[in-house]
Amino acid sequence: MTTPQPITGTALTSPALTNAAPTSPALNPDRYAQHTGLLDAAISTVRAIQPIQAVGRVVAVRGLSVLVRDLPAPVGATVRLPRLAGPHAPRGESGEVVGLAGDHAVVMMLGQAVGIRTGDEVVALQSAKTAGVGPSMLGRVLSGLGEPVDGGPGLHNLFPQSLDPAPIRALARGRINQPMHTGVRAIDLFNTLGRGQRMGLFAGPGVGKSTLLGAITRQCAADINVVALIGERGREVKDFIEHSLGPQGLARTVVVVATGDESPLMRIRAAMLACAVAEFFRDRGKHVMLLMDSVTRFAHAQRQVGLTAGEPPASKGYTPSVFAAMARLMERAGQLEGLGGSITGLYTVLVEGDDMTEPVADAARGILDGHIMLSRGLAQRGHFPAIDVLDSVSRVANDVTDSQHQAARRQLVRSMALYREVEDLVQIGAYAKGASPETDLAIAMHPRLTELLRQDLSAIDPFDKARARLLTLAGQAVTLPPAPTSHAANRR
Ligand SMILES: Nc1ncnc2c1ncn2[C@@H]1O[C@H](COP(=O)(O)OP(=O)(O)OP(=O)(O)O)[C@@H](O)[C@H]1O
Ligand SMILES: [Mg+2]
Repeated sequence: MTTPQPITGTALTSPALTNAAPTSPALNPDRYAQHTGLLDAAISTVRAIQPIQAVGRVVAVRGLSVLVRDLPAPVGATVRLPRLAGPHAPRGESGEVVGLAGDHAVVMMLGQAVGIRTGDEVVALQSAKTAGVGPSMLGRVLSGLGEPVDGGPGLHNLFPQSLDPAPIRALARGRINQPMHTGVRAIDLFNTLGRGQRMGLFAGPGVGKSTLLGAITRQCAADINVVALIGERGREVKDFIEHSLGPQGLARTVVVVATGDESPLMRIRAAMLACAVAEFFRDRGKHVMLLMDSVTRFAHAQRQVGLTAGEPPASKGYTPSVFAAMARLMERAGQLEGLGGSITGLYTVLVEGDDMTEPVADAARGILDGHIMLSRGLAQRGHFPAIDVLDSVSRVANDVTDSQHQAARRQLVRSMALYREVEDLVQIGAYAKGASPETDLAIAMHPRLTELLRQDLSAIDPFDKARARLLTLAGQAVTLPPAPTSHAANRR
């Protein structure tokens, strides 16, 4: 990390930021308020950093957890073991205080615990988790510590940013009333996202989550993307960056990676760092898309930390702190009143065997403003993206679309629901045509709707063109009476 610089809008140099609003606070009251806000944020970050030089001694090591005697450091403090400093860990292996037991601190290592000996010195560095963040991170792939792992040059002009800032007050949140188009028709037309929304992408393994996230990153209307790959297999990370994202997608993206073989703390840090990077750009007026794959792996990491710290396991071994940490993480996305930027969050959640009552899926649904369901059945039929429109819901869709769009969506959702009721009969040829004119029309509409929803994700589809197709199809289904209320799923 370079020497912290004062945080000012004018200090930003990246080409992606040159279209930022004019920076003359004196002439523009909104910008003045924004600068004041940035200053307040900087002051609170500096206050949170309390340089302390407390030193303790290792008394025991169990797996990745280290018991340290006489270390008067608070929970959350970063520590390091100077004796382990070497070419692979120039600053010594780092860890974090995750719990306290009597006069012992329970430290969890960010890297490995190999080589630690009883009596080793443990130095507490700082009580607040911060990282250097800046525009030079654009187009780069970073570790959970914020260091480049793509073999490129070092980062420069970094600004200290808290990894775990105070939660946004409920009343400080702005209303979500602007759409965030993703370029994926099944989302933009039927489950429209809003700027500042937090959306879940629920799916079983191998149903197309990463491919869909890559396509959204390449095509979405955000100024900047932040992608957090948490607990992925190492091979998939390269595949995602080179194929799903491609050079064009990467150019306006910051990727933060902690693979499944890294320590649980590193995976948690990577998720937090991704949020901090998104917040950095949001505070400078940018509309950010934060894509996290996956929240389930974050929850697994948090479970390991909780168990190490001695928390009691509750449902399926998840400790209570897992759900608190999930809420805290996902609540960081949003739109702030009076600040031009926003963070739209898209979080993948693994659902094994379509079990939506699984603790992490259940908790995520309670926190998020909607969910997109990927269906294995659709994927098996080669229907990609395998988004189940009827089972998905965006709670802000009606606030970010016009009435014509909403009416067309209701019409077509009703048609799809009618088709689903008789789908099995149609498949085996047992449906008797003429029994219900409405259902007959829904069956006639089915191939056209399937064509609308299937999409080659390598082709960008402008929203206006997709919307025109939606209205045309709704016109064809017009003899169906519209559904009585909004999108049926929106009531769930
Ligand atoms: N849009 C698409 N078009 C064609 N094939 C696709 C598409 N999306 C996914 N697939 C197929 O599904 C496979 C799995 O996709 P992907 O890796 O995106 O799934 P995933 O849900 O991220 O899997 P995992 O749970 O293992 O991370 C791909 O290898 C590809 O064959
Ligand atoms: Mg994947």
